[in-house]
Amino acid sequence: MLVLGIETSCDETGIALFDDQKGLLAHEVFSQLSHTVYGGVVPELASRDHVRKTIPLIQAVIDKAGVATSDIDGIAYTKGPGLAGALMVGAMTAQGLGLAWQIPTLGVHHLEGHLLAPMLEENPPAFPFIALLVSGGHSQFILVEGLGQYTLLGESVDDAAGEAFDKTAKLLGLPYPGGPKLAALATQGNPKAYAFPRPLLRQGLDFSFSGLKTAVSQMVLKLGEIDEQTKADIAASFEEAVIETLCIKAQRALAETGQERLVISGGVSANLKLRQTLSQLSQEKGFAVFYPRLEFCTDNGAMIAYAGCQRFLKGDVDSDCQVKPRWPLSELSL
Ligand code: KG4
Ligand code: ZN
Repeated sequence: MLVLGIETSCDETGIALFDDQKGLLAHEVFSQLSHTVYGGVVPELASRDHVRKTIPLIQAVIDKAGVATSDIDGIAYTKGPGLAGALMVGAMTAQGLGLAWQIPTLGVHHLEGHLLAPMLEENPPAFPFIALLVSGGHSQFILVEGLGQYTLLGESVDDAAGEAFDKTAKLLGLPYPGGPKLAALATQGNPKAYAFPRPLLRQGLDFSFSGLKTAVSQMVLKLGEIDEQTKADIAASFEEAVIETLCIKAQRALAETGQERLVISGGVSANLKLRQTLSQLSQEKGFAVFYPRLEFCTDNGAMIAYAGCQRFLKGDVDSDCQVKPRWPLSELSL
């Protein structure tokens, strides 16, 4: 079965073709830069960029894969959660093409896409596993027992991990999108320079990152003028606090559920220090850790095409034409 995937939930237009027999045939991502001057995503600008990019990228992916439109068996698009207008561009494009090509469409949950993204790799995890989903909007531990079988074990009570990276980057004067820039700056700094708090570390599987961001903000105010090295030290110390929190809680999630496989996905899973630390820990403690390749950590069409294909194969069909800007993962089933 050949599935076209369309991702337009935020500021990336992601398009891909996934075949259940041949794997991923082609994919393209356009990352919108029109938001840079505003320091964050402007929903209306995001929708307009998706309108401009979705059809040309679909054409590019079809050309790259060397398939005919008549070879495509279904279209999967991100139905939610995300920005309403941005989601509607993907949903309407999918439904228009579905009607024209007379093939079924299916709305996919964005977070299901993220947590199944490691399945696109050569050594995919078997079910069940614990997924640590760390993106710009979510920080969650999920017990994944199969397609559509997700149990939320813990989540952030305030800022998501990626949001904390972005807000801290802004405090340090780094341009949007700040997370990856903060991580790059952190490589030049001393992670032990500042002892930032690790909230909710001692118990449970919930996170709280807003206090950490406030601690950085107070430190920046206290220091006044800061030079580049101090900035790098703050970035490295902040990153260390987030990574230590994620690693300790990940081990707790595995221990409490008796699981041996950990999947890390979502934008923050692109963080190299997090990947190195978890890989080392997995060897020491005897659990297996799986990540998507770097380009599939952040938003992309491949994860939507993959998740959509698995659901089509199980007989799932679109129930309505609505997008769901707010859509808890726990509402999913099969
Ligand atoms: O999954 P994603 O592309 O979008 C959402 O669904 O939210 O995640 C984007 C988030 C942003 O907050 C971004 O700053 C963060 O992932 N991010 C990173 C890195 N790359 C992206 N955070 C830390 N280190 C990185 N290397
Ligand atoms: Zn995402």
